[in-house]
Amino acid sequence: MKLESKFIVLDGPDGCGKSTQAQLLAGWIQSQGVEVASFRDPGDTAVGEKIRRILLDPEHEGLCTPAELCLYMAARAQLWQEKISPALANGRCVVMDRWMSSTCAYQGYAGGFGIENVVRMGADCLERLWPDLTVILDVDPATAAGRMHRRLDRMERKGDEYHRKVRAGFLELSRIYDNVVRLDAMVSIETLGEQVVELVLNRLGGQDQ
Ligand code: TMP
Repeated sequence: MKLESKFIVLDGPDGCGKSTQAQLLAGWIQSQGVEVASFRDPGDTAVGEKIRRILLDPEHEGLCTPAELCLYMAARAQLWQEKISPALANGRCVVMDRWMSSTCAYQGYAGGFGIENVVRMGADCLERLWPDLTVILDVDPATAAGRMHRRLDRMERKGDEYHRKVRAGFLELSRIYDNVVRLDAMVSIETLGEQVVELVLNRLGGQDQ
């Protein structure tokens, strides 16, 4: 299988269903006989989980965009170093719940820092900026809101206008970069799951010849 050592990211606005789809994709890859490692960004390291709590705590309402950016990048650099890089080196296919595309869409586009500036900063902080494939699960804000039933975290509380821009930011990324691909996520979980697998197969290759 060509999926060994491949780096795949599922991303999109809050409520797009990416965590469910990341799990489904990981299960499918495993069923193909390829070992998978799945992580969430920010998180999945001791430091990353602490940073995540700071970022999402509604008490930190005043956290400014550049501070958010540095914290997300710090959690990501640590996750790469501790978990992702070794997993890829061991031949595992890495399936991520969010990555750089989120920082571009949230802090870069919606927060006004600028996508190019986020990319420049990422290039200085990260050994690897872009995965082999980023799948953007696109939903309209009303559908997304209907999928979020728990108490909203600090980022989710930023309001409709911010989240409308987040979506636009993700769409902009799919226009700029060839390996950032948008899928319409306003379909059933099963249908979307099939489309994600099809996309992965098309883009990253199936069986070795
Ligand atoms: P999650 O709940 O999907 O794990 O993501 C945490 C929140 O952080 C979510 O609202 C998106 C936001 N976020 C950013 O604003 N910038 C980033 O770089 C990342 C990775 C997430």
